[in-house]
Amino acid sequence: MEPLNDTLSRPLKDLRISVLDRCNLRCTYCMPEESLHARGVFLRPQYLLSDGEIELLVRVFARLGVHKVRLTGGEPLLRPGFVELVSRISAVEGITDLALTTNAILLPRHAGALKEAGLGRITVSLDSLDGDVFYKMAGGRGSVQEVLDGISAAEAAGFERVKINTVVQRNVNDHTVIDLVEHFRTTPHTVRLIEFMDVGNVNNWDRELVVPSAELLKKIHDRWPLRPVAKQPLGETARRYAFTDGAGEIGFISSITEPFCGDCSRARVTAEGLFYSCLFSAKGTVLRDKIRAGSGEDELVDEIRGLWLKRADRYSELRSHLPQRQPHIEMYRMGG
Ligand code: GTP
Ligand code: 5AD
Ligand code: SF4
Ligand code: SF4
Repeated sequence: MEPLNDTLSRPLKDLRISVLDRCNLRCTYCMPEESLHARGVFLRPQYLLSDGEIELLVRVFARLGVHKVRLTGGEPLLRPGFVELVSRISAVEGITDLALTTNAILLPRHAGALKEAGLGRITVSLDSLDGDVFYKMAGGRGSVQEVLDGISAAEAAGFERVKINTVVQRNVNDHTVIDLVEHFRTTPHTVRLIEFMDVGNVNNWDRELVVPSAELLKKIHDRWPLRPVAKQPLGETARRYAFTDGAGEIGFISSITEPFCGDCSRARVTAEGLFYSCLFSAKGTVLRDKIRAGSGEDELVDEIRGLWLKRADRYSELRSHLPQRQPHIEMYRMGG
């Protein structure tokens, strides 16, 4: 099948679906507690896409050339019946790579069933191994031990290589990055250090808090020499480096200092069924109501084809030229 290309010749290849906007943590860079009290924002169940509606959309995207699906949140494992949803999506023809982004806290309960349901890969968010730093960044909820137990449960269930996502903020957790890297360096898991991004409107983003990846790369390289890993799959967010002593790899996701819009092949659907063509879009396209009004697979294929053909987003490349911070959807709705 011919790839479906947008106006910048970028094919539609990945689908990221947020299955729920709620979370059991309150990470300060994502959904700070005080912003939630002020707004009372979580979606009520009738506004969430049902399992059947999500499966329908996955079939639609698969027909347009998507093989890779990532399930995100909020925290996906809080969605009732999530394992069943995974098995329905993994059974869709054409979906060959099904991944989950989670904070891992509920993995001890679900990892085995997720494996059996056909989940292929797991990415875990973990910002620090220092208990106090973790607690502060997670908004006073959860613990390092719970996350490590979740990672162990994933390993035991057969998810051999977990990706660890670490959002780095200056003077918040940057001093604990070396310990985290040291811990995972000798495991099959790969740490990816993420520059703090200006997603959403409530996370008090400030450029001063961004630690450029180049700075972390140097710090880590001084301790354990690194070499760049040559071939990156098209559309990958992370720049990868290997430890020259053979102890695995590390990745850097540098949306602020080295934007990667050039080959961005990701479509996003929120838990309430809005389609977004960029993490930083101000406005989504309502799909849920079309489904509920009777639109079938063929009509949805046409609709999304039309949206992708018009797509021109490249927010991260334009960020520094924009006059001021633009309003955009919250990360816990969009799903990262
Ligand atoms: P795989 O390649 O499937 O392993 O996943 P990924 O690299 O897309 O990883 P993941 O979903 O873990 O994304 C890592 C982080 O990169 C996210 O949490 C976001 O912070 C950031 N990210 C992912 N996609 C985009 C994107 O399209 N634009 C920007 N600016 N950041 C992104
Ligand atoms: N900047 C960078 N990454 C973020 N994430 C959430 N909010 C931000 C932000 N402001 C990441 C989390 C998680 C994923 C879902 O998105 O670390 O791994
Ligand atoms: Fe929850 Fe992930 Fe947001 Fe943290 S970053 S509050 S774990 S959705
Ligand atoms: Fe893709 Fe938008 Fe992120 Fe650029 S800013 S990589 S276009 S999602």
